[in-house]
Amino acid sequence: MKAPVAAQMLMFLLVGLTSSTILPDTDDICRLFPDKTEVADPSSCNHYITCNNSVSEYTRCATSTPYFDNSTMKCTKTLSDDRHCQLSCLEHVGRFISDKTTCKGYYFCQDETTPIHGICPNDLHFDFQAQSCVYKSKSKCTLSSFDICSVVKTDTKVAHESDCRKYYQCTKRVLTLKNCASGQYYNSTAGACYEKWKVNCPKIPFPDNVCGTVKTPLKNKFVTDDATCRGYFYCADKGSIPDPAPVWGQCKNDTFFDTTTSSCASPLNVKCPTGADRCEGRSLTFVSGSETGCRQYLRCQNGKTEEEKSCGNYFFDENLTACISTPITYTSCVRK
Ligand SMILES: *[C@@H]1O[C@H](CO)[C@@H](O)[C@H](O)[C@H]1NC(C)=O
Ligand SMILES: *[C@@H]1O[C@H](CO)[C@@H](O)[C@H](O)[C@H]1NC(C)=O
Ligand SMILES: *[C@@H]1O[C@H](CO)[C@@H](O)[C@H](O)[C@H]1NC(C)=O
Ligand SMILES: *[C@@H]1O[C@H](CO)[C@@H](O)[C@H](O)[C@H]1NC(C)=O
Ligand SMILES: *[C@@H]1O[C@H](CO)[C@@H](O)[C@H](O)[C@H]1NC(C)=O
Repeated sequence: MKAPVAAQMLMFLLVGLTSSTILPDTDDICRLFPDKTEVADPSSCNHYITCNNSVSEYTRCATSTPYFDNSTMKCTKTLSDDRHCQLSCLEHVGRFISDKTTCKGYYFCQDETTPIHGICPNDLHFDFQAQSCVYKSKSKCTLSSFDICSVVKTDTKVAHESDCRKYYQCTKRVLTLKNCASGQYYNSTAGACYEKWKVNCPKIPFPDNVCGTVKTPLKNKFVTDDATCRGYFYCADKGSIPDPAPVWGQCKNDTFFDTTTSSCASPLNVKCPTGADRCEGRSLTFVSGSETGCRQYLRCQNGKTEEEKSCGNYFFDENLTACISTPITYTSCVRK
């Protein structure tokens, strides 16, 4: 935030919002990039940004090379193209212009060369036409409205903010949608995909065709959430269409959602979705893992896997909490 006090005052001028609270700027551009990514500052030609754990840290170029060039991603003596860092107040004095890096942000043009930054409160989006903060549902703003690849090195990964299974990559500086392998989620700080249980996903994405298709919608059915052992979605009867917003729920502790019977069952009788954590909601410290062959076991703590171990040539017996030589064939760890 460049001018917090002015920005706060502006916020009230802007929409005449009733005394709403002013939220901190959680729309930092670095939330989208892996740790240590360098970013050309879209609002100043003399700065660049280094991402430190999703937080922007600004560095000013030295006086001998005062400009940051978005093609070389280095500080230079002169700048042939300054479009990536130019905020044009020229034709907007006394008005608000969009902050291209975040839907919540705007600048107030005090004069032709002085943009003052502000952030819409309460998750509202700035709308240039309306010259005010509007409800998200009324806003056309999306990440793609800003050419995010023009401010980072080619091949930089960019987080997908509404689906943990996906991310983008600036391939030859063009934003390209990518999918993690099945059973994995994208960790934006690390810039890589990991097994689902290792990534803290704030909202479990709906599996593809979660409630069936228009041809055959699922009605009054429980289906797997495809992310956790206990989780399911309930598909309500919406007539001729699949439920567009199924409600998420969980089986009780020490039971897992069984896709084959659409009910909650004893964990050893349930194959979890790929990448799910078999320690979730368990009261045991050592539980059988999901690796085929039933030789793997997990050490659990607070409902999370702490350690993955193997019985080697032996098999893990969850009741005895021991590796035994007699083959074990729990449904949870035999080949389908
Ligand atoms: C990154 O941020 C942490 C605080 O969260 C700080 O201690 C650390 O020095 C920062 N790293 C760099 C390279 O600036
Ligand atoms: C630099 O930024 C400009 C304006 O956003 C953009 O048109 C150009 O493609 C960028 N250069 C590179 C190499 O991305
Ligand atoms: C991403 O991985 C880092 C370690 O590289 C971890 O600290 C962080 O909590 C992870 N974030 C999420 C959302 O899982
Ligand atoms: C379910 O298990 C988790 C840990 O696995 C525990 O934190 C939680 O309190 C348990 N809930 C109930 C209702 O027992
Ligand atoms: C483990 O215990 C459960 C009930 O406590 C029982 O139904 C099951 O047969 C036992 N499994 C083995 C392999 O001993």
